[in-house]
Amino acid sequence: MKALIASGGRGTRLRPLTHTQNKHLIPIANKPILHYAIEAAVDAGIKQIGIVCNADSHEVQDVIGTGKQWGVKIAYIPQKAPLGLAHVVKIAQKFIGKDDFIFYLGDNMVVGGVKRFIEEFEKSDCNAFLTLAKVKDPERFGVPEIKKGKIVRVEEKPKKPKSQFAVAGIYIYDSSIFEAVKKIKPSARGELEISDAHTYLINKGYNVGYSEITGWWKDTGKPSDLLEANRLVLDNMHPSLNGVIDKASTVVGKVILQEGSKIMNSVVRGPATIGRNTVIENSYIGPFTSIGDNTVIRDAEVEYSIVLRDCKILNVKLRIEGSILGNDVEIVEANGKPHVHRFMIGDQSRVEVA
Ligand code: G1P
Repeated sequence: MKALIASGGRGTRLRPLTHTQNKHLIPIANKPILHYAIEAAVDAGIKQIGIVCNADSHEVQDVIGTGKQWGVKIAYIPQKAPLGLAHVVKIAQKFIGKDDFIFYLGDNMVVGGVKRFIEEFEKSDCNAFLTLAKVKDPERFGVPEIKKGKIVRVEEKPKKPKSQFAVAGIYIYDSSIFEAVKKIKPSARGELEISDAHTYLINKGYNVGYSEITGWWKDTGKPSDLLEANRLVLDNMHPSLNGVIDKASTVVGKVILQEGSKIMNSVVRGPATIGRNTVIENSYIGPFTSIGDNTVIRDAEVEYSIVLRDCKILNVKLRIEGSILGNDVEIVEANGKPHVHRFMIGDQSRVEVA
């Protein structure tokens, strides 16, 4: 069994964060999203991982490296244009060879890993094995039509979904998938759809099985998904306090505080994680907050938010909540008269003021 992880695409729904970084490298609980996919493969005992990445960027290779830190071999497969997930599979055929493989979309997160799905696939005589998750908005996903316990068709982003399920971005295949991805034609949006490859297999009489994900699963395509994934990961983490906490501060609940960071005259209520060399002073950090390295939060309150590295939040009167701050962002008090809000905001940003 090998693993193939998709990390390409442009992440348009996560702009402006994705103007300067690949969406798969955005940190959740201070760890790039892609790490969670790699760790899921490693936990399942997989030793060879192929990562499909954008051909015009070296970012993923630079951040993820050779795989040595996880004791696995990572090969990079460049994709010249975002031509769809079935295209991702198609260009990976040489890497996969005749092996079975798990195809994992690098922006998906699932608690409990993927080992159980691989075991189910191996016990079955399936050619393809899909994971399904019950969602409120199936029209955003690939949706299976199920009759008498069998998937009879998968539709990509249907206007009228035939079930309550999304096909999650965790698929297990034998080599018959390569026949499917070569035979299907691009969809109306010009992509080779993985859902069409699944329907092709079903129509040709291949055995397509499935399992329901009963725990939580998230496709981190939208900002609110990032905050939710962050909340869920923080809820399951192990606390560790390595920085300095002064006597005037209160730190309660599960909190990770990394080396070189200081909490002074502040209240931190976990679950929360604070990176390296960050200062929290005269402030409140509320549950489900991740704060990156080299950040200063002084005279401010932050809750249910993701703050990346090198940020400054200083003298902000109103609590910051449900927010995502990229790298090197400043939110500071406006001095002088008139008493105003003053913005210096890049393309496709969003600010909500009270
Ligand atoms: C892709 C697939 C879709 C699947 C989803 C899971 O959609 O095309 O079938 O349900 O991933 O995350 P995308 O996120 O690229 O819109």
